[in-house]
Parts: sequence; structure tokens; C-alpha cells
Amino acid sequence: RRPFYVDTDTASDDAVALVIALRHPDIDVVGIGVVAGNVPLDMAAQNALYTRELVGRLDVPVHVGEAAPLTIELETAQNVHGGDGMGDIGLDLSGRSADGDDAVGALLDASHRYAGELTLVTLGPLTNVARALERDPSLAERIPRTVVMGAVADHIGNVTPAAEFNMWADPHAVQAVLDSGLALEFVGWDISRKHAVVPPALADDLRSIGTPVADFCIGIQRVVEEFCATQTKLPGFDLPDPITMAYAIDPSIATETRRLHLEVETESELTRGMVVMDVLGFMGREPNALVVTEADNDAFIAMLRTAVAD
Ligand code: BDR
Ligand code: CA
Repeated sequence: RRPFYVDTDTASDDAVALVIALRHPDIDVVGIGVVAGNVPLDMAAQNALYTRELVGRLDVPVHVGEAAPLTIELETAQNVHGGDGMGDIGLDLSGRSADGDDAVGALLDASHRYAGELTLVTLGPLTNVARALERDPSLAERIPRTVVMGAVADHIGNVTPAAEFNMWADPHAVQAVLDSGLALEFVGWDISRKHAVVPPALADDLRSIGTPVADFCIGIQRVVEEFCATQTKLPGFDLPDPITMAYAIDPSIATETRRLHLEVETESELTRGMVVMDVLGFMGREPNALVVTEADNDAFIAMLRTAVAD
């Protein structure tokens, strides 16, 4: 089984991605790092701990990481995910203890233990990864594959007109990661908007499977659903982190990819966090990322269905 390390600002869609990863037979989640993003750090940690417990995976260590972006202030997305990040449906999200408070060190440790074989999947702002690179730049040489949920290839943002949340939340960390030499693969919010939407009829269908996990995965999308109705104009809700995880587990979920050079805007108020993709090679730079540009909707939903099935 392939070793995976997951870094997450755990809220509603991150939790579903964790469910998929923790229950998939082909991979072995060797650690979970928590970062501030969708919600403040302590809340994200409680949400990750609740999720691992729900799926009976107390054996997978959860480490708490960075409470704030590298240089800017934390601005959460509780308007999108709910005050508790999990749809405010009354879950008991307190009192659980993490296995450590140094997610940066935990990632570095995992990179040594699984050198040359670890897949890193990032589902939140890239702060923990940037701090790990700061502590030890050779990290990039030990991790052969890093799958990032972030950016928008079609430049339709979900937090500002130009930017996707994870990139916008800590753009300085994005730049550090883009410059690091890590073998990066991006799944942007455009992929979620096009290929990971769960309309109400499908949500009902998944919930009718009747397992506690299915009920949880659909139930916690309650506030996201309101945000989709009012702001992103999607029917039901979309699942950016889960389709990213599905692709990380099974790359054939991507039906089209491109190797591109990416840069991120860190300063402009208008376009902060916008990831510029040099499609036509104006910058004359070597590609630093593989970008997923199309994905297989049905294959993703099938993986989701299996993950919540028992
Ligand atoms: C990303 O931002 C967060 O709101 C989601 O958890 C996902 O990681 C989507 O833009
Ligand atoms: Ca996330």
C-alpha cells in the first residue's frame, strides 16, 4: 500500500477527503497534519480528530501545525463551512487530543521514514509545507509526489473574483512551495466546480445508503450548500478536497493534464492568491507543476460511494 501524508485545514469537504483516504485499500495514511485555514487551528484539529474516530482509525497520528499564515493574518472561511467548519449540525467537536503539536516536524519525519515513496496531499493553505521547507529544503528531494488542492485554471475564483481559497489564504507559502522543487500536481477549484458537484438528488441517494459515515459526509455540507446556492451558483454542493484525494489515489481520474510554469500573486489586493499559469510559455521557464484540466466525474462519485458504503 502506498504511503500518504495528508495536510488539511479540516472542515466539511476536507473531512470527506479524509474519509476516502482512511478507508481506501490501496493507500496507507501514515500521518495527518492540521493547518489553520477554513477554521482556526484548534477547530480544524478537533474536526480531523472527530473524523478519524468516526471511521475507526485512531491508529493514524494527527499532528497540529501552524496557526497562522507565513506573513499575513488568518482569514477563515466559516461563512462557507459553518462556525464549527462542519455545517453547524450539532456534532460534539471538542475534547479530543492530538498526537503532537508539531505538524511541520511530523511531515519532515514522514519524509525520512518513507523517503522516495511518500505522496503528500495538501487540502488547505500551504503554511505547514512552507515551514517544513524552511526547516529543511531537502524535503523536496525525498517526496516524489505532492498533490495540491488549489488554484483555478479558468480564473473563476471562489473567495475573490481571481483566487481560490487555499492559495489566497497564504500566497507566500504557495510561492515557497512553487519554488521548492517539489514534484507538484494541482487540482483546482475549476475541477471541483465542473466534476465534483453533488446535486440534491445525488446527496439524497448517497445518504440513503444509510451508514453513519454517509450521513456524516452529506450532513456536514449543510452550510456549504447555502454558500453554493447564494455565491457559487452550484446545485447542491461541490467537493474540492475529495476529488483531489480521489485523483491522488487514482490518477486516471484526471482525463487531461498539462505541465505548466506557475507563479502566484502575493501582493495585489485585487488578485492576491491568483495562480498565473503560463500556458503559452511567455515566461520561458521550465514547468514546475502538472495541472489537472479535466476529470472523470463518474469515477469520482463511484469512489465516494464506496468510501461511505459501510
Ligand atoms: C478549498 O478551500 C476550502 O474551503 C476547501 O476546504 C478546499 O480545500 C476550496 O477552494
Ligand atoms: Ca480544505
